[in-house]
Amino acid sequence: MTTRIAIFASGSGSNFQALTDACRAGELDATPALLVCDRPGAYVVERATAADIPYFAFAPKSYKDKGEFEAHILQELNRYEVDFIVLAGYMRLIGPTLLSAYKGRIVNIHPSLLPAFPGLDAVGQALLYGVKLTGVTIHFVDEGMDTGPIIAQQGIEVEADDTRETLEKKIHQVEHTFYPKTLQQLFSVKGEATIR
Ligand code: GAR
Repeated sequence: MTTRIAIFASGSGSNFQALTDACRAGELDATPALLVCDRPGAYVVERATAADIPYFAFAPKSYKDKGEFEAHILQELNRYEVDFIVLAGYMRLIGPTLLSAYKGRIVNIHPSLLPAFPGLDAVGQALLYGVKLTGVTIHFVDEGMDTGPIIAQQGIEVEADDTRETLEKKIHQVEHTFYPKTLQQLFSVKGEATIR
């Protein structure tokens, strides 16, 4: 049975697009059941509308706290019968409400070779540090910031003439194939994605 995924994003959503395209092309055996977005004006919401995928866009400030908005997210996840949460540029820590409801069933992509450069602006951090190799990490999500067991990593060389723009472009290009491919492997491991 195909895995019903909710994709969480905060911004442009190029990874959302790559994941939903991979589902529709049959390269990722999953159904994009819902977009969850914490910035109602984000471009990713337009992408979901264009792709005819339901979305739940919310303004965190209109809730008392994280517990309250995550309880609302959880209602939506139940409504759309979501099996698995895929974070794709969701710039917010996941709290205990979602972590306990989706234990072992939340993954994230981060634009560095973790544990190097967690948090915001991983690409800028890598350039500032002067590393010659950076990359992309896909990992299970726990309560920390870009922590949790690593599932897969791919290295990307930083060239002497790389700028933030060129490096970001290279990272995105890798992410767009690496994320669907890694999820496909994860979901095809028997039972892995559906254990509650
Ligand atoms: C991606 O590069 C993703 O790895 C990063 O945000 C970008 C979102 O781009 N995530 C993090 O930094 C998580 N800490 P997108 O909106 O175009 O998919």
